[in-house]
Amino acid sequence: MAVLVTGGAGFIGSNFVLSWIAETGGAVVNLDKLTYAGNLENLQSLKNDPRHIFVKGDISDSELVHKLLSRYQPTAIVHFAAESHVDRSILGPEEFIATNVHGTFRLLEAARAYWGSLAGDRRGNFRFLHVSTDEVYGSLSAEDLPFTESTPYAPNSPYAASKAASDHLVRAYQHTYGLPTVTTNCSNNYGPYQFPEKLIPLMIVNAIRGKPLPVYGDGLNIRDWLHVGDHCAAIRAVLARGRIGETYNIGGNSEKSNLEVVRAVCEALDELHPDSPIMPHGSLISFVKDRPGHDRRYAIDASKIRQELGWTAKQSFATGIRETVKWCLDHLDWVQQVENGEYRKWIDENYGGRQTI
Ligand code: NAD
Ligand code: DAU
Repeated sequence: MAVLVTGGAGFIGSNFVLSWIAETGGAVVNLDKLTYAGNLENLQSLKNDPRHIFVKGDISDSELVHKLLSRYQPTAIVHFAAESHVDRSILGPEEFIATNVHGTFRLLEAARAYWGSLAGDRRGNFRFLHVSTDEVYGSLSAEDLPFTESTPYAPNSPYAASKAASDHLVRAYQHTYGLPTVTTNCSNNYGPYQFPEKLIPLMIVNAIRGKPLPVYGDGLNIRDWLHVGDHCAAIRAVLARGRIGETYNIGGNSEKSNLEVVRAVCEALDELHPDSPIMPHGSLISFVKDRPGHDRRYAIDASKIRQELGWTAKQSFATGIRETVKWCLDHLDWVQQVENGEYRKWIDENYGGRQTI
């Protein structure tokens, strides 16, 4: 009995695949296109494990998805595959519409046909779990209450709009066709195997290399940080006990400004990398031109998942960030492997035009 995971070679997907096999012993069929963000090195420890079946392919390839569903008869689809980086969506939104909107639509169509072919308990127990983001709710001001599941959608970036569109499609497939879906809307994740284009791994890698730490605008934008291991545990809880047709907000109750986050990274490096030629690492902080349309604050009210499913975040930001910095220092070979030509090109495109302010 397997689950079909999409995007399982990415940051959260690979953490999910590793933890699913470790925690449940169950098998995973992992469908991933291996874009710049997909990395099989993340799954190296499963290389000879028959419970991990990797398939390189696109969620939009209906023929392939139909074949996989009919061959492996999964008990659930856990849908992570997406273009996930806001800055990339600002520079080039098209791929976000192709994968996040159209790809999700194609996947839903394949899931509907497969689910329709099931009978008895297998039909009753099947789930389509859609992994989404808190960015669909837009931006909060300092006085606003955190996002709940009934906060109106107000996506502000092409990325957020594409995820909002996919959430609406998932909702419609449940409402119209009865497909047993559940959706999770999670806050910012951090932890092992995160691609160094996102704030925390970018700052760790730049600081290790003695490069400037580019903080957008005034650095006072706020995110609600959650360790990826806690996100994976929440997804397992929703898959096991979440109610069909519901959405569940997931967050770490850990609001931090970007400056606080970058300073925490620098302090951890000062302690864990004392031989570094750059000391203190905080001296590398450099304020750069802001992200267009930059959302000011995200914060999650996770009381629904806590009360209904008994899930809470276990990892505090203070221990999680230290552990993540240590993980990077211990995995410099992994860092080097992702710092390939294409990644360098992205860094030039995104940060080349940003003046220091
Ligand atoms: P990621 O960019 O690290 O990984 C995405 C993965 O999807 C990659 O392995 C990539 O190769 C794969 N992929 C992309 N297009 C594909 C396609 N057309 N077909 C098959 N595979 C494809 O992303 P992530 O940060 O791990 O995020 C995973 C999911 O979680 C996304 O849906 C994202 O919106 C959501 N999410 C992320 C965060 C976060 O903080 N990173 C927070 C909340 C929700
Ligand atoms: O909230 C959940 C979302 O979190 C996910 O849906 C997205 O997939 C994920 O990428 C993340 O989006 P953000 O835009 O919040 O993450 P990012 O790491 O790109 O940026 C975090 C904050 O740090 C944001 O306010 C922008 C700022 N930032 C980011 C980078 C890359 C900087 O100041 N400098 C940087 O170089």
